[in-house]
Amino acid sequence: MAIIGQDIAQAKKHLERGELVAIPTETVYGLAGNALDPVAIASIFETKNRPSFDPLIIHVSSIHEAMRYVADFPEKLKELGKAFWPGPLTLLLPKNDSIPDLVTSGLDRVAVRVPDHELTLSLLRSLDFPLSAPSANPFGYISPTNPQHVEAQLGEKIPFILDGGACRVGLESTIVGMEGSEIVVYRLGGLELSEIENIVGSVRINNHSSSNPQSPGVLESHYAPRTPFILGDLDILVKEYTTLNKNFAVLSFCKRVKGISETKQFVLSESSDIKVAAANLFAAMRLLDESESEVILAELMPDIGLGKAINDRLNRAAAKS
Ligand code: TXA
Ligand code: MG
Repeated sequence: MAIIGQDIAQAKKHLERGELVAIPTETVYGLAGNALDPVAIASIFETKNRPSFDPLIIHVSSIHEAMRYVADFPEKLKELGKAFWPGPLTLLLPKNDSIPDLVTSGLDRVAVRVPDHELTLSLLRSLDFPLSAPSANPFGYISPTNPQHVEAQLGEKIPFILDGGACRVGLESTIVGMEGSEIVVYRLGGLELSEIENIVGSVRINNHSSSNPQSPGVLESHYAPRTPFILGDLDILVKEYTTLNKNFAVLSFCKRVKGISETKQFVLSESSDIKVAAANLFAAMRLLDESESEVILAELMPDIGLGKAINDRLNRAAAKS
């Protein structure tokens, strides 16, 4: 059972071990983990029972801290950050290499925000990593706005809930990015449009059924490597492509394929740990895509737990081929 308390040191201790902690924000409670640790990120997806790898928002203590994780901070978005952070605003900014692909689902932009809650800000200041945190509800449920909501839904799965009382805003953050010179709102949320327009002028709203029209769930080919990607039984595929004399790479779940060089294969988890496999997936696909192979041969994961989400991504990668 989760302990509910206000001890920041305890929250910090769990987070530094790679464990998850529910954190209060002014919008909704977040299910937080170390944003720089792909295994902690994989745990968030598993704990939420998310059927897919939706990209996650990273939480930092200040605009200055946000700079550490982005490749660029367009001036108009910086004005919004200066005006509304800490607050219910999430900015989509070009990420730098410190942010694992699992956080952004392989997208180039990372969603960043400075939450307006004193306990969580103190926690963030005490950590040397940002916190990835989706709303702390199992997939498909209503977002939690007090610690008891979190406890009822996730109390069995996490060690600690940082008790910041009821959420002040109670609506998720407004998500804003830029396309060219245009400001685009991708999710309507706790920060009103008029407040945004007061700072940057008129904005375009792109608030589709998904808050993230560029998410991999919407763009089927998003996960497709440039290299043709073939799914099947690896023993059979490897024989077939060897006979065809093809230059191929292999992506496997837990078994190394004999006779294939290290640069041409990636084992997602030697210990058959699906969480580790999930944490490795995007990096593995990228690496093999850069291996100058004619084709990538891959196998589905066991269709259980996170394996279903991995298989969804593998099928998307193979859809084009
Ligand atoms: O108020 C909030 O934003 C809360 C608190 C905990 O901070 N968090 C939250 O996270 O609502 P989540 O994961 O439930 O919703 C985040 C939304 C998702 O719909 C996701 O698709 C979108 O943000 N998103 C995250 N990163 C993105 C990215 N790189 N590009 C486009 N959309 C992104
Ligand atoms: Mg959510």
